[in-house]
Amino acid sequence: LWLAVGIRHRQPGEPVVENGFIPYLGCALQFGANPLKFLRSRQKKYGPIFTCKIAGQYIHFLCDPFSYHSVIRQGRHLDWRKFHFATSVKAFGHDSFDPRHGHTTENLHQTFLKTLQGEALPSLIESMMGHLQDVMLTSDTLSPSKDHWEVDGIFAFCYKVMFESGYLTLFGKELGEDRRQAREAAQKALVLNALENFKEFDKIFPALVAGLPIHVFKSAYSAREQKPCMLKTCPKRENMSDLIAMRMILNDSLSTFNDLSKARTHVALLWASQANTLPATFWSLFYMIRSPDAMKRAYKEVQQVLEDSGLTVDPSNPTLNLTREQLDNMPVMDSVIKEAMRLSSASMNVRVAKEDFLLHLDNQEAYQIYEDPYEYKFDRFLDEKGQEKPTFYRNGRRLRYFNMPFGSGVTKCPGRFFAVYEIKQFLTLVLSYFDMELLDPAIKVPPLDQSRAGLGILQPTYDVDFRYKLKSNC
Ligand code: HEM
Repeated sequence: LWLAVGIRHRQPGEPVVENGFIPYLGCALQFGANPLKFLRSRQKKYGPIFTCKIAGQYIHFLCDPFSYHSVIRQGRHLDWRKFHFATSVKAFGHDSFDPRHGHTTENLHQTFLKTLQGEALPSLIESMMGHLQDVMLTSDTLSPSKDHWEVDGIFAFCYKVMFESGYLTLFGKELGEDRRQAREAAQKALVLNALENFKEFDKIFPALVAGLPIHVFKSAYSAREQKPCMLKTCPKRENMSDLIAMRMILNDSLSTFNDLSKARTHVALLWASQANTLPATFWSLFYMIRSPDAMKRAYKEVQQVLEDSGLTVDPSNPTLNLTREQLDNMPVMDSVIKEAMRLSSASMNVRVAKEDFLLHLDNQEAYQIYEDPYEYKFDRFLDEKGQEKPTFYRNGRRLRYFNMPFGSGVTKCPGRFFAVYEIKQFLTLVLSYFDMELLDPAIKVPPLDQSRAGLGILQPTYDVDFRYKLKSNC
């Protein structure tokens, strides 16, 4: 799905325009109530490209994947920075990162590529694997037992485990008192506080992106403002990721941000690193547990990888470690994750039109990319040999864009490789250490929370209970 913002009424050669009935707001309320339903109905009525007035802006929606490439190539007339930088400022309250505004000369994009991809990945992977096992087995976050089942919501479980592990992997631990126990308790309190603040703030994130001022939401405002206070102490932390360490140096050397603004840039990164990963982990685990075939095949793959690496599963000494190459060699797990994200992702790719120009599109009829698109098929992204299926066709024509949870082009998520690795690590570990069952094996899939449509992976509207205990054979 593509979307570009303009400021004009319909001109000859432009798509159909829907102005809506309410002055200024236009179609905003219908769009906001259920964006997917809104877009589907307009696509049916007008075809794959149409324009709607939403909150004072004319937005061209482009829903034909064969035409995405024309937009991605259109760097000259379409500006990605305007929307991205402005959204971050609106939501997190830091000074602008746009070098054109004069607060910093940092090339943020380069910083992300350097510290989240390529050579940066092995240490992120190693650190995440250690934290995941600490949180699942050593710390008192879960305290699982071999003798009895623990009951929890799957989303609540994923939230606890992934937030703490991801947070510690990026931001490291606070350096504090020498007494280990007291330090660990204090550390735990800090992480829990960060988690609560994150939840509170994340709830109102869609409203902030839509332009509502944060002061309207008292508790979320104080939650956002507490996080910078915590992260201001960054220099006194150990085992920080390169991403945060480098951003601190560049904030100090290349920007005129004050301390609060600097800390708020870290809050923005905390949000980017967690907000999509948490629901993506939920859907991956939920769909996998719900499908006995998926669970069986994924478990077999995990066992094989561990066996090939000579690793033994021992919850009293949880030190499993998988290299990047080993994680790359798990096609079933890849497919499980891709399929879960296919069913829950609603990322919009936003560009702002700098001026009037002619965009040449592919003239295709509307069509579906996937067979049985609403069905969960854990092996949808596997070929006949059980390896990654790299190509999808429609009407004999190869599709270049068929799955875009991470966006596209220059704004494609820089954390996408790490995101998939961390979900894979999480699934590998829960499959290795725990027996897991849904309390109600026939439970329906919870509906997606559409209020967040456009912002990435959607959350479930309610949690689903499951039970877990340590495997008796390990
Ligand atoms: C941006 C998706 C995990 C860091 C984005 C965007 C999407 C996205 C759709 C915006 C792309 C656009 O506007 O076109 C996801 C999904 C994730 C995930 C689905 C998990 C399943 C992560 C993780 C990190 C991360 C784990 C970091 C550790 C970022 C950053 C940006 C971003 C820094 C902003 C990039 C920029 O503005 O240049 N992500 N993301 N993401 N993501 Fe992710």
